[in-house]
Amino acid sequence: MTTLQQLIDEHQSGYSLAKPFYLNQNVYEAEWQLIWKKYWLFAGTTASIPKPGDYFVYQLRNESVIIIRGDKGDVFAHHNSCRHRGSLICLEQSGHATKLMCPYHQWVYNKDGSLHKARLMPDDFNLQQHGLKPVAIELVAGLIFISLNDSPPDFEPVRKDFAPFVQPFQIDKAKVAYQKQYVLRTNWKLVAENFRECYHCGPAHPEYCSAVIGANLRESADSELLTKQQLWKSKGLATDTVNFVDDSFHFAIRYPLRPGITTYSLDGKAISKPMGDHRDHDAGVVGLVCYPNFWMDAVSDYIWTMRLTATGPHETILDLAWLVDGDAKEGVDYDVNRLVEFWKITGEQDWQLCENNFKGIETSGYEPGPYAPAEIDVAKFIDWYLGRMQAGIQETLLA
Ligand code: FES
Ligand SMILES: [Fe+2]
Repeated sequence: MTTLQQLIDEHQSGYSLAKPFYLNQNVYEAEWQLIWKKYWLFAGTTASIPKPGDYFVYQLRNESVIIIRGDKGDVFAHHNSCRHRGSLICLEQSGHATKLMCPYHQWVYNKDGSLHKARLMPDDFNLQQHGLKPVAIELVAGLIFISLNDSPPDFEPVRKDFAPFVQPFQIDKAKVAYQKQYVLRTNWKLVAENFRECYHCGPAHPEYCSAVIGANLRESADSELLTKQQLWKSKGLATDTVNFVDDSFHFAIRYPLRPGITTYSLDGKAISKPMGDHRDHDAGVVGLVCYPNFWMDAVSDYIWTMRLTATGPHETILDLAWLVDGDAKEGVDYDVNRLVEFWKITGEQDWQLCENNFKGIETSGYEPGPYAPAEIDVAKFIDWYLGRMQAGIQETLLA
């Protein structure tokens, strides 16, 4: 019988992972404990809960987390489990509630999770001791991250690095213009790998390559990048790439669109009014990643976020959202079909690749293959993944 430690030890650096990493239920269960329940997970944006009492529920396998806007604009995350006998409290995926009432025996909770009323309980019942269990939450310029870990990794480096890139978009005042969910038959790491390389972009993404200089790997983006960086700096926009270092789990970059292309759109023309503090459409593309589940691409006039949830070794749920400026009016400032089509087309090309990749790994002919030089960031993701699994195994042994 092979152990996880053996699988990690046998991994050949610079090669894709062995089959069990993608298919084996026990490996997936280990990932759930050592990565998914340990790290910071992107839940959504404050744009989706603009008013006090607005909430949404993030369902992760058997975990259910309520994210709710408080009275002072603050945001709380609570386990969606009543402190009476444990019923789910919020049954809808999103909604609005002045107070959170359990549907079973109607205990009532405040937005901050404290227990407000518990009907027919004895006079000496202690309300204070029965508030909803909190879930760790961090906000960075309107991006909401939660952690199922009681002592999660330090979030400060993520906040410090992401904030300058995200703040100009004013996500807190933005509008969620469109959302879409995909349920893919693939392993979550294949999606993460796909998003860390553009080796496939030339053949797979004609629309993306028409918009982004250098994406086809046949031309250099260097001089355009240098020119644009001067311009972006002069406007106070963040330009310094944040790389993955050691065991860090986040990444940020700003890169240029092709000259003459205004935004991520099929015709290269603007989609909507510039978001937040942006005064023009020349902000390039902001790309953010936070492992294991957050990807974001933002152009001056809209943001595209991707929340990835691994529900099993062979199932990955993608929740996508498109955000525009809070004052942008549908049909006047933007057309929702135009807003969505660029990433719908490009994303669906990727989802197909990821599902095909998984099917091929399932065959008896699969064996790990070598990464191309253009896939260096995939190799780094694999190193991060194996490093976290290894560290987790050691901590588990010590525990
Ligand atoms: S389980 Fe919630 S009030 Fe009883
Ligand atoms: Fe792609």
